Amino acid sequence: MAFSCSSVVLIVFSLFLLQCLRGNAAKCHADDEAGLLGFKSGITDDPSGMLNSWEAGTDCCTWGGIECQGGNRVTDIILFGGGDPKIYLTGTISPALSKVRYLQTIYFKDLQNITGTFPELVFKLPRLQFFYIENCDLHGRLPSKIGRLSRLQGPSFAKNAFSGPIPSSISKLTQLTYLSLGSNYFTGEIPDGIRHLKNLSVLNLEQNLFHGKIPDAFSSFFDLYFLSLSNNGLSGEIPPSISALAPRLAFLLLDRNNLSGNIPDFLGNFKALDTLNLSWNGFSGIVPKSFRNLTKIFNLDFSHNDLVDPFPAMDVRGIESLDLSYNHFHLGQIPKWVTSSPIIYSLKLARCGLKFKLDDWKPYETYFYDYIDLSDNEISGSPVRLLNSTDYLVGFWAARNQLRFNMENLKLPKMKTLKYLDLSRNLIYGKLPSSISGLKKLNVAYNHLCCKIPATRFSAKAFLGRLSV
Ligand SMILES: *[C@@H]1O[C@H](CO)[C@@H](O)[C@H](O)[C@H]1NC(C)=O
Ligand SMILES: *[C@@H]1O[C@H](CO)[C@@H](O)[C@H](O)[C@H]1NC(C)=O
Ligand SMILES: *[C@@H]1O[C@H](CO)[C@@H](O)[C@H](O)[C@H]1NC(C)=O
Ligand SMILES: *[C@@H]1O[C@H](CO)[C@@H](O)[C@H](O)[C@H]1NC(C)=O
Ligand SMILES: *[C@@H]1O[C@H](CO)[C@@H](O)[C@H](O)[C@H]1NC(C)=O
Ligand SMILES: *[C@@H]1O[C@H](CO)[C@@H](O)[C@H](O)[C@H]1NC(C)=O
Repeated sequence: MAFSCSSVVLIVFSLFLLQCLRGNAAKCHADDEAGLLGFKSGITDDPSGMLNSWEAGTDCCTWGGIECQGGNRVTDIILFGGGDPKIYLTGTISPALSKVRYLQTIYFKDLQNITGTFPELVFKLPRLQFFYIENCDLHGRLPSKIGRLSRLQGPSFAKNAFSGPIPSSISKLTQLTYLSLGSNYFTGEIPDGIRHLKNLSVLNLEQNLFHGKIPDAFSSFFDLYFLSLSNNGLSGEIPPSISALAPRLAFLLLDRNNLSGNIPDFLGNFKALDTLNLSWNGFSGIVPKSFRNLTKIFNLDFSHNDLVDPFPAMDVRGIESLDLSYNHFHLGQIPKWVTSSPIIYSLKLARCGLKFKLDDWKPYETYFYDYIDLSDNEISGSPVRLLNSTDYLVGFWAARNQLRFNMENLKLPKMKTLKYLDLSRNLIYGKLPSSISGLKKLNVAYNHLCCKIPATRFSAKAFLGRLSV
C-alpha cells in the first residue's frame, strides 16, 4: 500500500509540475498571437464563429484552425467552410499575417467571401510549403515574383476570380507536386515553362479562358496522375509528349475545348487510365484500335466530336460510364462489353446509329444505372421491361426513336428515383399513368397517346401533338 500511495503522490506532483510548466511555456509566441489577431481584425463577418476561440491573452496554439508543431510557434493555419453556404468568412487577408513567420501551411478552403488580391504577405514567409486558397473570392493577377516561392509544394488557387496570364516565372517552382488554378478567369497561353515542373502529380487548369495550343511540354512528367485542361479555348492537336504520361496518368480531361485532329494511338497504352474525357471538341477520324488495350478504364466520354466508324471492340471488364453521343457512329447494337459490365451507372449513346428492339437488350446489371440516353436512334419495341428492372434510375432519354408500346404499362411508382423522362417523337400509345406527376421533367410530345392528360405541373408543350398520327 505504501508503494501505491507514494506513486499516487508522485503522479499528482508530476501533473502539477507539468501544469506549471505549461502555464508558463505553453503560451504561443507574441508575434504569432499579434499576426493572427491582425488576420482576425481583417474579417468583418464570421457567422459560424470560426474564429471565436481567437482571443487575446490565451494560448494561440489552442485556437481553432491553428497548429503549432513542437514548440510555441504557429506552423499551420487551416480554415475551411466545408461546402456549407452558411459557413463563410467575409473580409480580406491582413498583411499582419506575415508576422506568423514560421508558417508552413496556409489552407483556406470554401471561405467564399474572402476578397482582395493575391496576398503578397506570403513572400515574407520563408517556410511556406502548402498554400491553398480555394473557393474564396480573390481577384487580380498572380504576381510575377511568384517564382520566388521556391519551397512551395502544393498551391491551389482554384475557384477564385483571378485573371490575367500565368506568370512565366512559375517555371521556377520546381518542387511543385500539385498545381490547381481551375475555375478562375486566367487568360493567355499555358506557359511552355510548365515543362520544368517535373514533380507534379496533379495539374488542374480547367475552366479558365486559356487559348492557343496545349504546350508539348510533358515529356518529363513521370508522376503526373491527374491532368485537366477542360473548359478552356484550347485548339490544335493532343501534343506527342503526352505519350510520356502512359505509366501513371489516371485522369485525362480535355473536354469542352476546340481541340482537333485524330485521337492518338498512344492513348491505348495508358495502362492506369481511369477517366478519359475528350467530349465537346472537334476530334475526327476513328477511335484507334489500340484502345482494345485499355482493359481497366472506367469512364470514357467521346461525345460531341466528329469521330467515325468503326468503333474498336473494347475489352473492358467493368466500364462505369460511357458517352459516345453525337459523333458519326453506326453501332447497330449496344456493344457487348457495355451490356456485360457489372458496374455501369451511366450509358449515353444518343445518335449512335443504334437499330434494335429494346425488349431484346438484356444488360447483365441494371442495379447501378442512374442515366440511360438512347435518343436519336432507330430503336423499336418497348422500354417497359428495362425500366421495370432498374432500381435507382434517375434519367431515361429515348426521344426520336421508333418505340411502340402502351404507356399504361410503364410502372413508374416502382422507380421512385426517376426524375427525367423523355419519350417524345416515338410511336407510343395508350394512357399516361397518373404516376408521371412524380417526375421533375417529362416530355412525351409527338406520340399517339390518348385520353385525358392527368393533372400535372408540366407545361402543355410536354404533351404536344399527342394525338397526331
Ligand atoms: C460577401 O461580402 C459582401 C461585401 O463585403 C457582402 O455584401 C455579401 O453579403 C457577403 N456575402 C456573404 C455570403 O456573406
Ligand atoms: C522532386 O523529384 C526529385 C527527383 O525525382 C526528388 O529528388 C525530389 O525529392 C522531389 N521533390 C519533392 C518535393 O517531391
Ligand atoms: C476552333 O478551331 C477551328 C479550326 O480548327 C477554328 O476555325 C475556329 O475558329 C475555332 N473556334 C474557336 C471558338 O476558337
Ligand atoms: C466529360 O465532360 C463533359 C463536358 O464537360 C461533362 O458533362 C461530363 O460529365 C464529363 N464526363 C466524364 C466521364 O467525366
Ligand atoms: C496492346 O499492347 C501490346 C503490348 O502491351 C501491343 O503489343 C499491342 O500491339 C497492343 N494492341 C494494340 C491493338 O495496339
Ligand atoms: C416488373 O418487375 C416485377 C419484379 O420486380 C415483376 O414481378 C413484374 O412482372 C415486372 N413487370 C414487367 C412488365 O416486366
